[in-house]
Amino acid sequence: MIIRSLKFIKSFIEYFACCLYDMLKGFYFSNMVFKRSKDKRVLGSNIMINLHRIEKGLTLRNVKPLFGKWFFGKLFQDLKSFEEINGSDYPQNISISALSEYKKFHLEKNISEEKYPLNLIEKEDTRALSGTKKVEEYNSSINSENHFFSLARSRSSIRNFSAKANLEDVKKAVALAIKTPSVCNRQPWKVHYYQNKHEIESLLKYQNGNLGFRDNIPGLIIITGNLKEMEFSYERHQIFTEGGLFSMTLIYALHSLGIGTCCLNWCSKPLNDWKAHKAAGIPQDQEIIMYLAVGMYEKDIKTTISPKKPLTDVLHVN
Ligand SMILES: Cc1cc2nc3c(=O)[nH]c(=O)nc-3n(C[C@H](O)[C@H](O)[C@H](O)COP(=O)(O)O)c2cc1C
Repeated sequence: MIIRSLKFIKSFIEYFACCLYDMLKGFYFSNMVFKRSKDKRVLGSNIMINLHRIEKGLTLRNVKPLFGKWFFGKLFQDLKSFEEINGSDYPQNISISALSEYKKFHLEKNISEEKYPLNLIEKEDTRALSGTKKVEEYNSSINSENHFFSLARSRSSIRNFSAKANLEDVKKAVALAIKTPSVCNRQPWKVHYYQNKHEIESLLKYQNGNLGFRDNIPGLIIITGNLKEMEFSYERHQIFTEGGLFSMTLIYALHSLGIGTCCLNWCSKPLNDWKAHKAAGIPQDQEIIMYLAVGMYEKDIKTTISPKKPLTDVLHVN
């Protein structure tokens, strides 16, 4: 009994120490407390987030006029700070031309140029490529590269669906995703698939990134990982590593079958997480990795350009 109690206390302290380490690292390095508003990487990331919101808004079925007004102040402030530090040398992935497309959309709809925030946008902003393009342009990038490269290059997040995916195809894709590697071959993942429109809409209320296309998601997958399959405190991130790898395989498998997807983040506060588990009928011992919007799509819908970082920024060969 005493040995069991000591082991319990030891495990508790170990887990606590690991969580404290995560907490201190996240607290110090994230942009939550220490704003580091003069750091090029932080500014670039903040700009990217808001420009992506513009790209994304422009791809929706019903584009809301003057959407995103609330973050334009911060976006222009960040752009100004970035230029002060870096001049007009924008990294490849900072997609300022989304602003021009935003402006064009409003001018075509005769929404006054004087109205904030349109008056802040330069007429033809071509500092870097971004905005939207037709999804078929992605699909046409399938060329002489090897099959996987073509497949990966032709995928783009879909937020404008036309119909439900065939259930047999979804099963096929999940069956393939099970081939994903996992630590000690534990395969802790589960896939919960919802097809009922009302259920999907009610589950999406717990997720913070589907505004504007919530009523246009014909299928919802919730990918989870079972915490019961994790043993030690130092394995605490493993569920997310495995879950992420599994999710990506699933996304590519679905894409290869012509099914569109949009990952939906699970950046959830604890109470919301608990409520979502209850609403979705998912046991609390399963950690939600992400939601995934799933469905068929027309070939002429718009999707984001979502420019990517250059190889030199990502690959450090030692
Ligand atoms: C884990 C994860 C969470 C995401 N969450 C959201 C989300 O909540 N809402 C959304 O519209 N897009 C979401 N996305 C999609 C990203 O915005 C998208 O992948 C990114 O802009 C790159 O575009 P691409 O997928 O077309 O290459 C998410 C992507 C990932 C990987």
